[in-house]
Amino acid sequence: MTELIFDKWAKLYSERTSLMRSSEIRNLLSVTARPDIISFAGGLPDTRSFPMERMVETTRRVMRREGSAALQYGPSEGHQGLKEIIATLMREDGMDVDTEEIIITDGAQQGLELIGKIFIDRDDEIIVEAPSYVGGLQAFSSHQAKIIPVALDEDGLRVDLLEDTLKKLKREGHAPKFLYVVPTFHNPAGVTLSAKRRQRLLELAHENNLLIIEDDPYSRLRFEGQPVRPLRSMDESVVYLGTFSKIFCPGLRLGWVAAPRPIVEKLIFAKQAADLCTSSLSQRLVEEYFTSHPWKAHLKKLVKTYKRRRDAMLESLEEFFPPEASWTKPGGGLFLWATLPDYIDTTEMLAEAIDEEKVAYIPGRAFFHDGSGKNCMRLNFSYPEEEQIREGIKRLAKVVRRQMELYETFAKGVHLNSGDSNEKGSD
Ligand SMILES: Cc1ncc(COP(=O)(O)O)c(C=O)c1O
Repeated sequence: MTELIFDKWAKLYSERTSLMRSSEIRNLLSVTARPDIISFAGGLPDTRSFPMERMVETTRRVMRREGSAALQYGPSEGHQGLKEIIATLMREDGMDVDTEEIIITDGAQQGLELIGKIFIDRDDEIIVEAPSYVGGLQAFSSHQAKIIPVALDEDGLRVDLLEDTLKKLKREGHAPKFLYVVPTFHNPAGVTLSAKRRQRLLELAHENNLLIIEDDPYSRLRFEGQPVRPLRSMDESVVYLGTFSKIFCPGLRLGWVAAPRPIVEKLIFAKQAADLCTSSLSQRLVEEYFTSHPWKAHLKKLVKTYKRRRDAMLESLEEFFPPEASWTKPGGGLFLWATLPDYIDTTEMLAEAIDEEKVAYIPGRAFFHDGSGKNCMRLNFSYPEEEQIREGIKRLAKVVRRQMELYETFAKGVHLNSGDSNEKGSD
């Protein structure tokens, strides 16, 4: 629990600061780190299986070979050797990119923050998926954007609804600054934008002069099926965010933005003001790891592990959850999204889940700017092991069923008290 402390500087903070909130996710992580809790709350890649000795070797080699540069400031746009690796990765995914179109950031999260900084003035409209990545919502709303949500379904963003939204904004004389999407293995929904919708989305962007921000941390964590083309591979004006957090590790804090050159130039200015440059040591460690280790083999193993855990979660949900609940079936990534009967409030239910059943998740509300998603939850399957997943879902199902029984008892009570009966007829 956060201690309440009197803040005598309250009058000094900027308007922007009053919009900043610690995310529900971060607050929860402190509780869910307790060993007695089975947590589906985090978004943690599994670093337990990481070949640690390799990293020791890598660090030694980097320090011996280029220790002085690794301990020095570096260029704000990033270390050229690592940019070349990033360009190779992107080319493997069908994206034609030059290293001059890349800026290295402290994780993709800093990329989102810098994008917010260079594009958003107060009350500018931006469009996001609903639900959307909570770190994106935080970054954009701290720059005082007006956030316009567009729903998604099993095939990703509803581009038909996006079209309606764009028409409405146009009628009102507004032009959104950009659309932010996580098209592949979405966080939190676990869904992927279909190839047909990708095509239509780019047509709409073209017709409406709409800048697309494509955030893609998860596409290499594919369990089955054929890869879908990134939006950036179909249109070079798309701004693309990548990260080493999920294909390697999040602790080194390395991500990137690939964008047309004029945008990269502005991002570099913004980054200079933020932190001068990303850690030279981290960049060289990642460069070395991706140059001289069989990283693809390690990633393959990791993906296999995540697939087994995804399967364990789907099977357990099928076995223990009530038929009134539904959930997405992600073909990759780290999360699935469960929807409960609409009278259940997952934010309120969380205390009971943690206190009585020692299981945690993220309530759906955290992923909507307007407080919807009340009866939904995000479940992470990458970190807990299979047995824990089974046990955790079993416990969570108990909490859900108790909520349903409570509602039924309550609804019956209301029904009896109102003296309602079928004989009276109803319209
Ligand atoms: C969609 C999305 N974007 C960005 C990030 C931030 O990643 P990074 O660790 O690279 O800052 C995450 C992390 O979970 C994410 O899910």
